[in-house]
Amino acid sequence: MIDYEQLSATQAQQLLPQLCDVLQACVADGGSIGFIDATDRDVIARFWQDRIDSLARGNCDLLVARQQGVVVATVMVNNSGMPNGRHRAEISKLLVLPLARRQGIARQLMQQAELRAQAQGKTLLVLDTRSGDVASELYRSLGWQVAGSIPFYAESTEGVFEATTVMFKVLQ
Ligand SMILES: CC(C)(COP(=O)(O)OP(=O)(O)OC[C@H]1O[C@@H](n2cnc3c(N)ncnc32)[C@H](O)[C@@H]1OP(=O)(O)O)[C@@H](O)C(=O)NCCC(=O)NCCS
Repeated sequence: MIDYEQLSATQAQQLLPQLCDVLQACVADGGSIGFIDATDRDVIARFWQDRIDSLARGNCDLLVARQQGVVVATVMVNNSGMPNGRHRAEISKLLVLPLARRQGIARQLMQQAELRAQAQGKTLLVLDTRSGDVASELYRSLGWQVAGSIPFYAESTEGVFEATTVMFKVLQ
């Protein structure tokens, strides 16, 4: 059974090694999620620590899926820091452990992230995703629209500069 939870900063701090495991496994699997070197655990741990600090300041939300208590997937809802963007949030770090994929976990997490954003009064969500990745199909099926794409946006784990697709969803 999969449990879906929104973590407090304290809970996230306790689960830091597991958050790192998920991110590290997704980078090792070739995911375009900000990192190139899956073996650099320190860089990955610093990233999560920064996000947990942001969570403690109330600037974002972190939702996870757990299987038998172990984190198998994550997603973040990041509030815009600007006064004119209080209605807006960015979805990031939708990550599912390779072994836990194709069970609908990402879909569930996205739906919960959207509900969370809506409950906080957000009316616009944005994200970007590597052009052509399977994630785009998930987002489209959840009603997200493509704003456009940017070439050469991010370097892949293979050293290739790849395009990203910017997507948005207006919440009712
Ligand atoms: C993208 C990712 C989050 C999907 O996670 P998942 O739990 O396997 O996804 P789900 O089982 O909820 O599938 C949802 C939809 O995504 C699409 N999808 C996911 N994996 C797919 C695959 N391997 N091939 C084709 N479509 C796929 C399908 O449309 C699927 O809907 P369906 O099952 O009704 O066909 C996961 O592959 C992942 O973590 N990838 C690496 C990190 C990443 O790229 N994250 C996105 C950052 S923007």
